[in-house]
Amino acid sequence: MPKDIGQLFHDETKYHRHRMPRGSGFRFKDPEPFKTYPNPLSVVELPPPDEEGGIPLWTALSRRRSRRDYSAKPITREQLSQLIWGSYGVSGRYGTYYLRTAPSAGALYPVETYLVVNSVEEVEPGLYHYNPPKHNLEQLKKGDLGKDLARACLGQGMVATASVVFVWTGIAARSKGKYGERAFRYIYMDAGHIGENLYLSAEALGLGCCGVGAFYDDEVNQVIGVDGKEETAIYLGTVGSLL
Ligand SMILES: Cc1cc2nc3c(=O)[nH]c(=O)nc-3n(C[C@H](O)[C@H](O)[C@H](O)COP(=O)(O)O)c2cc1C
Repeated sequence: MPKDIGQLFHDETKYHRHRMPRGSGFRFKDPEPFKTYPNPLSVVELPPPDEEGGIPLWTALSRRRSRRDYSAKPITREQLSQLIWGSYGVSGRYGTYYLRTAPSAGALYPVETYLVVNSVEEVEPGLYHYNPPKHNLEQLKKGDLGKDLARACLGQGMVATASVVFVWTGIAARSKGKYGERAFRYIYMDAGHIGENLYLSAEALGLGCCGVGAFYDDEVNQVIGVDGKEETAIYLGTVGSLL
C-alpha cells in the first residue's frame, strides 16, 4: 500500500475555492437508487413502523452507549421493523426521490442494508437484504451465519450473540457520477449517520447496540455475497436484548 494513502486521498479529494474538480469525467447511466434482488428465497413483510412517539430524543442521546453483552431473548419482528426504519428507512418523497431517516449527500443513498438474523421472532435465521420502498426483507441465505460473520469481524463474540447484525455496504457508482473520488468521503459519512440512527433506535426500544468497524473486509463481503469492488461492506451494527 502506498505510504500515507489516507493523507493522499484526503488531499486529492479536497475542494479548493479557486480550483474545483471538473467532475469525475464519466457518467453512469442512471444508477438504480436502491438495489433489489429479483429472485429471493422468500420475502418477509415487516409491520409498519411507528413514525411518532418513542422516548424523548435527549434521553436517547444521554443514555446511548455501545452495548456488547446480549441475552438469548430474541427481539420481535416489530422491533426489527422499527430498527430498520429508524436507521435508514423511507420517511418522505421528493419527486422521484425516496427520502430516508438518515441524510445522504446529494440524496443519492449509496448505502445498502443487509441483515444477518440470528434470533428474531417469526423471522428465520439467515441473510436478508432490505428493500426500502417496500419496507420488506429479501431472504438471500438460510441458516446460522452469525458465527461466520463473527469470525469475519476479528472474532468479536457479540456478532454471534446479537439477535441481528446490520451490514451496510457502499455502492460507489451511485455517488461517483456526481462527486468523483470525493464520493468515498460521503459514503462513509452517510454510513456514520445510519449507524447513529441505529444506536438511537435501539436505545428507544430498550435494546443494546454496538457499531463494528473492525472486520476482514473480503470475508464480510463473502458472507453477504457482494464483490468487494462495485459493492463493499463499510460498517456493521449489532443489536440484541439486554441482559
Ligand atoms: C466507526 C466505529 C467503529 C467501531 N468499531 C467497533 C468494533 O469493531 N468493536 C467494538 O466493540 N466497538 C466498536 N465501536 C464502538 C466504540 O468502541 C465506542 O463507540 C467507543 O468506545 C465509545 O463508547 P460509547 O459508544 O459507549 O459511547 C465502533 C464505533 C465506531 C463509531
